Amino acid sequence: MRHFTSVAQLGDLNEAFKKAKHVKENPFADQKLGRNRTLLMIFFNSSLRTRLSTQKAAMNLGMNVMVLDVNQGAWKLETERGVVMDGDKPEHLLEAIPVMGCYCDMIGVRSFARFESREDDYNEKILNQFIEYSGKPVFSMEAATRHPLQTFADMITIEEYKKTEKPKIVMTWAPHPKALPQAVPNSFAEGINLTDYEFVITHPEGYELAPEFVGNARVEYDQDKALEGADFVYAKNWAAYSGENYGKVLSMDRSWTVDTRKMALTNNAYFMHCLPVRRNMIVTDDVIESPQSIVIPEAANRVVSAQTVIREILLGL
Ligand code: CP
Repeated sequence: MRHFTSVAQLGDLNEAFKKAKHVKENPFADQKLGRNRTLLMIFFNSSLRTRLSTQKAAMNLGMNVMVLDVNQGAWKLETERGVVMDGDKPEHLLEAIPVMGCYCDMIGVRSFARFESREDDYNEKILNQFIEYSGKPVFSMEAATRHPLQTFADMITIEEYKKTEKPKIVMTWAPHPKALPQAVPNSFAEGINLTDYEFVITHPEGYELAPEFVGNARVEYDQDKALEGADFVYAKNWAAYSGENYGKVLSMDRSWTVDTRKMALTNNAYFMHCLPVRRNMIVTDDVIESPQSIVIPEAANRVVSAQTVIREILLGL
């Protein structure tokens, strides 16, 4: 593996889960693999889990790690080609990227959707420039359309907790006061569509995801109906994708909040969320604090997913 931008690049899922299990059980077995190798982590957006888990994963592999918050302490970057740079941005991404590539062996990039242009976001303009111009392997730490390290951790967690071969997974939209990208739900849908699990996506009308991510999932607009018999409830907010509404908040309907009544409709489902989560908007206190909530083991598996992916990239260097 050279670049990692989508869970589809994991290849055979059973093999990927086996590698993840090996990494989880033997976190320091490959300390020599990363010796004298440097990971540069670039953040255009905030992070808690991705920052810490990816750094921990790289350190477990013996790597050196450098972290750059683009918006704190670096020169402000121009990202558009052809701009007369007479404003407040003294450096262009097209020089910054190859320069960053000179200082490391691998680059992790976090660059969210900007909601200025759906075309730019869905063409992964920033991430793809790193792939094109850095000269180094690049992996996504959440880009405009996908969050594959999160999805891989989610899938590892489902593998660990599932009680049947083909669990019913329900991904439900839930309300949030601000517009959030579709990267997590897109990526989760992409990942679950690679399995033979039963998969239902539920959301209010207007929140349809891009068809290429919905894939074979059943879309159900009645949240109660969707949740019936679920083995896993994956809650997430996202802003509208469709047409002129791209990037807009269309609803803050708190009847979509995951609460105990909703969870009672399920097959004693596990509750999942990628975090950070707004309590009593997305999920009530009692659900997230219940024994069925697996948000912490899910977050813990972020180290496993990152370490499995970075290990594969190191093996290809
Ligand atoms: N789930 C996730 O990616 O968390 P952070 O935004 O804190 O990294």
